[in-house]
Amino acid sequence: MCGITGIVTSNLDNIGELLVKCSSKLTYRGYDSVGVAAVHNGRVDLRKDVGTIEHVNRLLGLSRMKGDRGIAQLRWATYGAPTKANAQPHFGCDEVFYGAHNGNIHNYVEYKKELIDTGHIIRSENDGELCVHAVDKYYEETGDMFEAVQLSTQDLKGAYAYAVGRADKQEIYAVKMGSSLVAGIANNATIVSSDLPSVLPLTNNVIYLADGEMLVLTPDYVKVFRIEDGKQLERPSQISNVDAHAAEKGGYPHFMLKEINEQPKVARDVIGILESPMCEEWLRLLEKASRHYLVACGSSYNASIVGTYYFNRLAGIPMFHAIGGQFQPMYGATMDENSLCLLVSQSGETKDILNVLNLIKNENYGKALGVLNVIGSTLMFQSDSYIPMACGYEVSVPATKTYYSQSIIFAYLAARLGERNGHIDSSEAKAFISRLRDDLPSLTQTTIDRTGILAKNLARTLTDVKDLYCLGYGFTDGVAREGALKIKEICYNHCEGMYSSEFKHGPLSIVTKNYPVIFVTTTEDSWMVINHINEVKARHGRTIVVGELEETLEPYVKNKQDYLVVPKSEILINPILDVIPLQLLSYYLSVDLGINPDLPRNLSKTLTVD
Ligand code: F6R
Repeated sequence: MCGITGIVTSNLDNIGELLVKCSSKLTYRGYDSVGVAAVHNGRVDLRKDVGTIEHVNRLLGLSRMKGDRGIAQLRWATYGAPTKANAQPHFGCDEVFYGAHNGNIHNYVEYKKELIDTGHIIRSENDGELCVHAVDKYYEETGDMFEAVQLSTQDLKGAYAYAVGRADKQEIYAVKMGSSLVAGIANNATIVSSDLPSVLPLTNNVIYLADGEMLVLTPDYVKVFRIEDGKQLERPSQISNVDAHAAEKGGYPHFMLKEINEQPKVARDVIGILESPMCEEWLRLLEKASRHYLVACGSSYNASIVGTYYFNRLAGIPMFHAIGGQFQPMYGATMDENSLCLLVSQSGETKDILNVLNLIKNENYGKALGVLNVIGSTLMFQSDSYIPMACGYEVSVPATKTYYSQSIIFAYLAARLGERNGHIDSSEAKAFISRLRDDLPSLTQTTIDRTGILAKNLARTLTDVKDLYCLGYGFTDGVAREGALKIKEICYNHCEGMYSSEFKHGPLSIVTKNYPVIFVTTTEDSWMVINHINEVKARHGRTIVVGELEETLEPYVKNKQDYLVVPKSEILINPILDVIPLQLLSYYLSVDLGINPDLPRNLSKTLTVD
């Protein structure tokens, strides 16, 4: 949520162009409003408005702004509606201080009152403005920027990062207090940003930061300090090998379609990682623990449900799964020093997940094993060990390839554990793993090729539908929930994902003539799913099926496109493939409805707030 980018350069001509180019790579974090503050000849030029960066740039000519330093912010609204006044960056009391934040200031109400009572002029309802005023306040007292920034963090409670500058100072200052921040050093320019994609257009020479640290940027250097005592820290830069072009569409109309099509490669890459020597450490962590938890949010949670079935079936290990915010009240009292929590998060910055990580660390509740995609994320640095999803950038707001990678990780680990603890035969485990390695990439490609056209045709018949269900059974429980989440998220239709045997316990009453219900099944469970299909058919509902081609299922679909047939594989591969037609269906339906699936309204890809 929200992305900040600050740049200091020795060139006066192109600060606007640089800030637009770099910060546009953070669009996935927020697209409610955009602003740029640039300092030119000792004066701050602040331009901001509601809309995407393309829109606001066209409107206000952001990329033509001059100056040698500046801050841009892309906002996902939390405190205050998406209005021009609430757009960031903000000024301090006058037009001298400028700054922007990412995250939440929890003592917003009290602190705003305190500032107003002491004469500060607050112009918005946005908590980011308070960061600038906090620095303004302490600068008044100390006359020193470094100290003012340091002291501001004593007033501001919450999880946040901010960048701030003063019209008459050449430096930009930034702090990291619970939200992500990364810096970069280029020739005659430096940059600080919420995330790596916006640093890479300028440089791949990067510095990762930890919470409680602050930065001073000039065109020549980035200095890192500990906020607590102001001590300068040694923090050598490192070369990032992340491909800057990965954050481009590469000929596809949307990132989402590109990312769906990258899944065969993801299968190869993630299996490569799982077959590396690092896997021994992950397996040992899993083996040593006396109790196991899978904690995640959104799509990552849906994949964790699928994972729970794998760990049960292949390794005989009960996994307690919970959504991030639910974890402590549901399972907190069952944790001890022998517990292992798999914290699953694409971004590695989801606040609900970091809250669980902090709980584990603070209470000595055993080990945390991160499963994450973003290298350099907080989850990566603070977990005891981490498994990379190996997906490269996932730019589109709806998760696709990372969900897919997570399912593979769980399937693979469960098979290896099951082999080691004797829950399954070694030959069975080896055969499954070799199918994951050798067959899954091509099966995934075939699924994309075969179901793409069917999903496109099916989408066309659903454009008037506002309400539907997506049901799974056994292994496809999490798959169906994921399909429903995708449809809700990018088509703005109500689509509930649930367990198919539960449907008759209430929701069945919603079915009338042609009411659509999607059933996702494996070959193992289709005999049972047919019962549930019949219950809908008997009420004249429209049944749509996702699964392998089975004669017993064919009579239940009216048209060819209502049967999204995945290639023949096996029960344990089915759940990994079954999600693909649902991703494609939601994608085509979204496009047919005139929605941009990459940037669905009201959402942000990285949710660093509670
Ligand atoms: C849905 C989606 C979200 C995320 C959720 C967790 O398509 O992308 O539901 O899965 O916000 O994000 P991470 O995995 O970054 O913790």
